[in-house]
Amino acid sequence: MNNLNQMPKVELHLHLEGGAPPAFIKGLAREKSIDIAGIFNEDGSYRFADFWDFLKVYEAACTTLTGPQEFYRLTLAVLEESAASGVVYSETFLSPDFCGGGDLGAWREYLHAIEEAAAKAEADFGITLRGIVTPIRHFGPEKARVVARCAAETAGRFITGFGIGGDEKSGALKDFSWSFDMAREAGLRITAHAGEWKGPDEVRAAINDLGAERVGHGVRAIEDMALVEEIAERGIVLELCPGSNVALGIYPSFRAHPIGEMYDRGVKVTINTDDPPFFHTTMAREYEMLHQAFDWDEGVFAKIARTALDAAFCDADTKTRIL
Ligand code: ADE
Ligand code: ZN
Repeated sequence: MNNLNQMPKVELHLHLEGGAPPAFIKGLAREKSIDIAGIFNEDGSYRFADFWDFLKVYEAACTTLTGPQEFYRLTLAVLEESAASGVVYSETFLSPDFCGGGDLGAWREYLHAIEEAAAKAEADFGITLRGIVTPIRHFGPEKARVVARCAAETAGRFITGFGIGGDEKSGALKDFSWSFDMAREAGLRITAHAGEWKGPDEVRAAINDLGAERVGHGVRAIEDMALVEEIAERGIVLELCPGSNVALGIYPSFRAHPIGEMYDRGVKVTINTDDPPFFHTTMAREYEMLHQAFDWDEGVFAKIARTALDAAFCDADTKTRIL
């Protein structure tokens, strides 16, 4: 359906570094004489064997993002690509670990560059950006505290949320409670990656131990129907990323992805790309694949975009201008 391309889209789950086109990273590596040739296939795409290998490739790609100027260029490139898919509002995960290693002064400089790029993208491409500060789970709870301090110090109109990404199999979510409490006290809204690589109990932990009002992925809740019902009843929003899950082998196809059943059961599902160039996807492709898999029409997609905007962490004034 061609008009799906034009529909205004709202994305809540996108990792900024994960949006870096491989040619962009390759160009930076060349400029800086950083040898990361091993992370690319011959056709120029990113090369990884599984999720854990993906995390290593991701971190290697990040070594080329050496300063605020690189993040300025990255933000513009990512937002131009999202806008080409019809995205009008995007919330992106930002990691102080990759932006100055947790140093607050450096973080402020990186953030300034990202916000400048976001202002230019808003003027040039009509897309609005907000940031969710995100510790990396496998870097451990101590680093997360440093990240939480960066988040609390910069909470405001642009930095609206706090989350956690990385290796879900590393440590327990409750080990990160201190950081989440600090972020919440600073006024930040809460999301957490859970239920991508672990099952329903991890989704429960995100909601109950961290107070997540949205769950990143959360797709494996489908393995426990009582939990699916609870999520629907409590209005917890799932940031689903079907193309990412298919690319990483969690489900064999879009048709087999639980998003269709979750939507039918009244769960507040949203559609997101996660790390689009890594997973060979875009928001326009996600829409097209979901249309083909579930015969969803424009009415369904418009409802899902509204759900996403309602669940966005930005202020009410911003929401009224978006959709
Ligand atoms: N960081 C980037 N992409 C991720 C994913 N799909 N899961 C967890 N952490 C991530
Ligand atoms: Zn993610």
